[in-house]
Amino acid sequence: MLTTLPLTLLASLLVFDVFATPTPAPQPNGISMGLRRRVQSRSTDDFGVWAKNHRAGLAAKYGGRAVKPRSSGTNLITNQGSDSSYFGSLAIGTPAVSFDVILDTGSADLWVAGSDCGEGCSDVTTFDSSASSSLTNQSTAFEITYGSGEAAGTLVSDTVQMAGFSVANQVFAVCDEVSSGLLTNPVSGLLGLAWQAIASSQATPFWETLASGTAWDSPVMAFQLTRYLNQSRASQEEAGGSFTMGFVNSTLYTGDIEYIDTPSSTKTYWILPITAITVQGNSITVSSGSDSYAAIDTGTTLIGGPPTDIANIYAQIPDSSVGTGDYDGYYMYPCDTSVTVTVSFGGRSWAVSPADFQEQDLGQGTCLGSFFSLTTGDSAPSWIVGDTFLKNVYSVFRYDPPSVGFADLSDYALSMNGNLDLAAPSATIGSVSAAATAGSTDRNANSGTSIRTSSFLFTIATTLMSVVLSNL
Ligand SMILES: *[C@@H]1O[C@H](CO)[C@@H](O)[C@H](O)[C@H]1NC(C)=O
Ligand SMILES: *[C@@H]1O[C@H](CO)[C@@H](O)[C@H](O)[C@H]1NC(C)=O
Ligand SMILES: *[C@@H]1O[C@H](CO)[C@@H](O)[C@H](O)[C@H]1NC(C)=O
Repeated sequence: MLTTLPLTLLASLLVFDVFATPTPAPQPNGISMGLRRRVQSRSTDDFGVWAKNHRAGLAAKYGGRAVKPRSSGTNLITNQGSDSSYFGSLAIGTPAVSFDVILDTGSADLWVAGSDCGEGCSDVTTFDSSASSSLTNQSTAFEITYGSGEAAGTLVSDTVQMAGFSVANQVFAVCDEVSSGLLTNPVSGLLGLAWQAIASSQATPFWETLASGTAWDSPVMAFQLTRYLNQSRASQEEAGGSFTMGFVNSTLYTGDIEYIDTPSSTKTYWILPITAITVQGNSITVSSGSDSYAAIDTGTTLIGGPPTDIANIYAQIPDSSVGTGDYDGYYMYPCDTSVTVTVSFGGRSWAVSPADFQEQDLGQGTCLGSFFSLTTGDSAPSWIVGDTFLKNVYSVFRYDPPSVGFADLSDYALSMNGNLDLAAPSATIGSVSAAATAGSTDRNANSGTSIRTSSFLFTIATTLMSVVLSNL
């Protein structure tokens, strides 16, 4: 439950009142064609898909009979706070209003800040549930606890649209209590992209409705996440890459996608076992069995793992040291050491670049490493593999069979990293844009010795962890 969190790192959490356990919510139903025509790539790999969609698109555009509903879609995402978080946009209600939401494969609930939300929602665009003619109030309390904060409110259902897909009667929460620091303008909420079993609302997640039906060409979602961490002139908001539903974009990766099935086809978090880690080319000892389980989590900034494994990683880095005080659980190391860590989930080894290992320059030649020590007990996967890793690969979350795939990024995708000529996307669906307030232009976001740890997001859902993991 809510009152204690088993995670050692979480210093300043607000603790809300404990609500009653939510009752099962009605399931969303009905998929209709979206409003936006999307641009299709014409690479040979994609050509069959392109041809089919192109035909359906033209049929719709010129009033002919649509061959098939929209079958794949792309949401351009924004990189916020030099790789602290990645958000996309969706639209809710009638008339549709756009909101920016953190895209989070570490949880399974959709929620947005409601117009009654005070502290914790200052500066953010909020959802006015009375303005939507298609909204139904479920009058059921909702609360969710993440690694780095909480949100609470009421469940409602309404039409939700994203990347050209629309789900009618999608159950989500309108929150009037949100931990301060969880939402940073212009983000208004969070879209959970893990499985229904860990949904605090018990509702079918938006993506799962689409994946389980006939909406998608292929039962996959995929991410390309950009890196601006080592770009000292990065703004608060930069181009974040892309999130696709129903297909993988072959422009963004090269070679094959290596899929690894989740252990026992688990449908909770997106879990893979970590089977091997190297640091500077040397293998380290890693925990085995369920202690090797990692949640692949786009909503977490860094990589957290078992204390002994993390200590083994830093033991390979000369002159590294354990952090104290604000840096309890973290490690420091000399900035002039270029550290390469590779991680394997049972197949290939994937490298985390030195640029991602070096999370922050603390001054005087000392840097903060991006792997931190995390004690989750039996209440969470032992590892949380976040954006520090995911920036280095094209990642694919496959519905059936349940698995996560990785591939090398293409030169095209790599060319976006640190690129100051790219504009951060703005919300484009709906009659009102939630992205109207431009982010501050802090061209020195990474310079100096300011402590950036407060902006590390850790949005793995913890509310139901013990229940879920005991079933593995
Ligand atoms: C694939 O990604 C490229 C680069 O972002 C983009 O231009 C193209 O439109 C995408 N393809 C599809 C089918 O969305
Ligand atoms: C839903 O109804 C409850 C009362 O049952 C009310 O407290 C809540 O504010 C309503 N929520 C929304 C989003 O309209
Ligand atoms: C950032 O890191 C990447 C990957 O290691 C590297 O290719 C790039 O040159 C770095 N950019 C800067 C500005 O240091």
